[in-house]
Amino acid sequence: MDKHSSRVALITGASRGLGRAIALGFAAAGYRVALAARDRVALEEVASEAERAGTPESLAIAVDLAQPAAPQEMVKRTVGLFGCLDVLVNNAGDTKRGDFLELSDEDHLSGFALKYHGMVRSCRSAWPHLEKSGGAIINISGVGAQTPEPAFTIGGPVNSAIINFSKALAKRARDGRPRVNVVCPGHIVTDRLRKRIAAVAEREGIGLEEAQERLRQSLEIASFGEPDDIARMVCFLASSEAAYVHGATIIVDGGSTPGI
Ligand SMILES: NC(=O)c1ccc[n+]([C@@H]2O[C@H](COP(=O)([O-])OP(=O)(O)OC[C@H]3O[C@@H](n4cnc5c(N)ncnc54)[C@H](OP(=O)(O)O)[C@@H]3O)[C@@H](O)[C@H]2O)c1
Repeated sequence: MDKHSSRVALITGASRGLGRAIALGFAAAGYRVALAARDRVALEEVASEAERAGTPESLAIAVDLAQPAAPQEMVKRTVGLFGCLDVLVNNAGDTKRGDFLELSDEDHLSGFALKYHGMVRSCRSAWPHLEKSGGAIINISGVGAQTPEPAFTIGGPVNSAIINFSKALAKRARDGRPRVNVVCPGHIVTDRLRKRIAAVAEREGIGLEEAQERLRQSLEIASFGEPDDIARMVCFLASSEAAYVHGATIIVDGGSTPGI
């Protein structure tokens, strides 16, 4: 990717997992980075890593993005410090898995509150700045959008809604400003996947390694993905090399999605 020392990327859910890897990807490309999540200490560690990776300047924003006013505040602080915004990556998400009959209204509402409504509000607040800069929005969805699962009745619909909304926003973007795209990660090794493997191990009374292997075989993939696999795609979509990619949904899943 080109070096962009004056460009600014705002990444949500940047304290760990995919968001951390995405933030470090932009830092290595020379972007100034704004990092948002709730855990201030973890964010500051990622900010230090970003500086070592090459960012000229970083900003840690400790914020609960499920709260209605938080996305606007996050964008205001980013533009207040850096003066502009070129890339918004909506990655924060924490939808609960489980049997449909055991998931409550509150589980459904909180899953949508963060990953869907937080993303919508972030797009709304960032839009005028991204329109001006001719920048890019990349929304992180997930392969549950294409492949519904009985244990994923919150995350699947949230991820599908993100794709529908993103397509509508892409159509709204006059002259392709900003470009809007979606990345659907498959099974990537982060805390979120580790928790899922631990739950399989407990349920089936087996060790972690065996649970991981059973999950891998059931998905028919050669291996689980690494956060950098997603970060590279997100950084590509933000770059001028992807100038004609607009309104697209890109699946990065090692081949696990069975349909077309
Ligand atoms: N890993 C996968 O295999 C996979 C597959 C498909 C889709 N995805 C999607 O990719 C995204 C990242 O997943 P991940 O695996 O990296 O998850 P993760 O390791 O659990 O990280 C989630 C991130 O979201 C932040 N977050 C959670 N609640 C928040 C809130 N209320 N306000 C602000 N930030 C909040 C967390 O930070 P704090 O706790 O500090 O707030 C953390 O930085 C999610 O949207 C997930 O659905 C992941």
